[in-house]
Amino acid sequence: MEKLKVGVILGGMSSEKEVSLNSGRNVYDNLDREAYEAVPIFMDADGRLWVIPWQLVSQNTTTDIVERLETEARRIPYEGLAREIDFAFISLHGKYGDDGCIQGLLELLRIPYTGPGVLASALGMDKHLQQKILRAAGIGVPDSLLVREEEWRRDRAAVRKRVCEHFPFPFFTKPIREGSSVGVTVIRDGNDLDKGIEAALEWDRAVLAEEFLDGIEFSSIVLEEDGVARPLEVTEIMPQSEYFTYDDKYMPGRCRKFTPPKNIPAAMVERIETEVLRAFRALGFRSYGRIDGFYLADGRILITDPNSSSGMAPSSFFFEQAASSGMLPSMIISRLIENARRIHQEKCGPL
Ligand SMILES: Nc1ncnc2c1ncn2[C@@H]1O[C@H](COP(=O)(O)OP(=O)(O)O)[C@@H](O)[C@H]1O
Ligand SMILES: [Mg+2]
Repeated sequence: MEKLKVGVILGGMSSEKEVSLNSGRNVYDNLDREAYEAVPIFMDADGRLWVIPWQLVSQNTTTDIVERLETEARRIPYEGLAREIDFAFISLHGKYGDDGCIQGLLELLRIPYTGPGVLASALGMDKHLQQKILRAAGIGVPDSLLVREEEWRRDRAAVRKRVCEHFPFPFFTKPIREGSSVGVTVIRDGNDLDKGIEAALEWDRAVLAEEFLDGIEFSSIVLEEDGVARPLEVTEIMPQSEYFTYDDKYMPGRCRKFTPPKNIPAAMVERIETEVLRAFRALGFRSYGRIDGFYLADGRILITDPNSSSGMAPSSFFFEQAASSGMLPSMIISRLIENARRIHQEKCGPL
């Protein structure tokens, strides 16, 4: 029998392209070769797709790959993708990667793909809209204010007043659509606010100001099995910085993580599992997702960052929680593929 040709798409157009390379490389390395044929596909910063030789997957940066594309890779037009692969394993992160864009393209090309569909992916990316939806579903989220760029450019003083009168210091500012802590700032006093808003506006046209959550941060992978979604074992995050920064996320040996949690009582972990499942459903996620939040000192559980996708580097939450459930990387990767194939067979219209 012919093996399913799985295109592992990595790189991409977002601030997280290097994170994507790490994820994609790990997925590529761990894809079960008995069941699947792996085709590494690089998306460059202009959104063009290239089939790359497997040797390029081991490059340290996307720049190293880009320099060798013309001579070693084969450019494929979008409409040619279905001739190269039967299935897309999306290892892209951030804008154009897990926000519904590539999902929409794959829908048009009729190529099934990992993770949630167009709308759920877009919601997973938009921190403002996801909070509205979760709030409406009765799920706890941080108190937040939206600041649009035009409002900020028109009348900074009014924005400063509105935000600083609403939140006690410190509080957080962040772009509405980013990941990997890019553009996130802790606002300690009024002088930080301009810097925080400008840092976030580098990445989007709107900024979210958020109350500071004092508690323990957690991350929970929700995974479907035969169509039933269940959380894997929850991870407690113990950053070495003031919060869970880019370096804490990706620098080797830095952040401590505990799966299961060390400092969250078991009864609370059960409540976390209930809440992350509710968030997964409220946002229409399918197959898998990663729902992050905080367990606060006053006992509340808030959902802060539901992701329609997850980093897949070796020590990511994804593989750590899979291991805790007895699943090797290759096993959970196969599960994502088989989940997605079933979901795409059953869907009516785009996912
Ligand atoms: N309101 C908040 N209170 C406390 N810490 C926060 C808050 N918002 C963000 N953080 C910290 O910043 C990190 C990144 O923010 P997050 O909203 O998760 O964005 P990203 O999508 O980039 O991961 C979080 O993991 C957390 O450690
Ligand atoms: Mg986060």
